[in-house]
Amino acid sequence: MAEEDIKKGLAGVVVDYTSVSKVNSDTNSLLYRGYPVQELAARCSFEEVAYLLWNGELPDQQQLAEFTARERAGRALDPVVKQVIDALPESSHPMDVCRTAASVMGARHPLAEDSSREANMAKATDLFSAMPAVVAYDQRRRHGQGVIEPRDDLGYSANFLWMTFGEEQVPEVVEAFNVSMILYAEHSFNASTFTARVITSTLADLHSAVTGAIGALKGPLHGGANEAVMHTFDEIGIRPQESLEEAAARAKAWMEDALASKKKVMGFGHRVYKHGDSRVPTMKAALDKMVAHYGRPELLGLYSGLETAMDEAKGIKPNLDYPAGPTYHLMGFDTHTFTPLFVASRITGWTAHIMEQLDANSLIRPLSEYVGPEERHVP
Ligand code: COA
Repeated sequence: MAEEDIKKGLAGVVVDYTSVSKVNSDTNSLLYRGYPVQELAARCSFEEVAYLLWNGELPDQQQLAEFTARERAGRALDPVVKQVIDALPESSHPMDVCRTAASVMGARHPLAEDSSREANMAKATDLFSAMPAVVAYDQRRRHGQGVIEPRDDLGYSANFLWMTFGEEQVPEVVEAFNVSMILYAEHSFNASTFTARVITSTLADLHSAVTGAIGALKGPLHGGANEAVMHTFDEIGIRPQESLEEAAARAKAWMEDALASKKKVMGFGHRVYKHGDSRVPTMKAALDKMVAHYGRPELLGLYSGLETAMDEAKGIKPNLDYPAGPTYHLMGFDTHTFTPLFVASRITGWTAHIMEQLDANSLIRPLSEYVGPEERHVP
């Protein structure tokens, strides 16, 4: 087989239809069920966007009220899930905790072996409602703190922050968090979504597919990049009293060295977007607001120094993980918790794709070109 016929990384290969989202790299645009993601981020709650991804339409008032009531009823940390988390070492990565929790929730789900659309919608909603408690508690236990009970008078984002920090956050912070959840929710056939679709194509259950997707998201070439961005900032050195200009100059010098030694810098580049990630301007605006709110201009210095140096040297643009990392840092999330936040959001997109895959399933089973030894026999 000719080398060009091998589609390594499946780059450029269209493997199925989808009506969940449309990524257009020519126009740097992203539509969820037809709606520009920027509009959804500016005008909707994350709950409305979750409903849209699953049902194809935004909810009316009554549908939203019913959905919200269902979501709020499922927010508490299941005591058995808590026991399992407590049995895991604090040295384990929070993504391993998330993956384990999703698997436990699947094994304990009353509809575990039912993959009808109704059962899958219930399972998706349950995962969506319960994952914030897992992420929040896991961060807290690492600081020697206990569970914070959910508040059913708060929306999804405000409650997530409440369960993590035990304090109600001001509206600007809640809003920035809500924007990040919406931007992370869905992105067509990325590695973790495709993983979920491959698992679903075997007719395995929804929780198995989500558990596998969490594994795929952990890698630094995918979701793990938001965490890696913060490690880069730490390596350059965060100096809270430094001016924006001084921080930018240090970051620029760091990037020049990194590129000279052929380093891949996480938070930059994208398999599909080659002229910039459609989600970055909206997330960067949220980061700007958080920098102003917390009074930390030096972080913008690091941000712009790296961005400018990368652009000048290679013309490679930041992806969503680049502004999201420092935003979560400012809010008080531990760096290792960043990718689990992505999980909590992407559960919506993954499960929308799982249901779509099942509606028109075909087992996903590609071929490979064998290059090992010719047939031989045991002596
Ligand atoms: N830092 C430095 N160089 C980068 C780069 C980065 N983040 N991303 C791409 N490049 C360079 C590659 O080194 C390569 O250069 P070369 O042709 O001189 O060898 C060229 O750009 C093409 O990169 P490649 O990795 O082949 O493109 P891809 O489409 O396979 O990669 C990513 C897409 C996302 C895997 C890649 O950009 C990357 O590893 N980024 C960092 C991880 C990240 O932020 N992931 C989150 C994605 S949302």
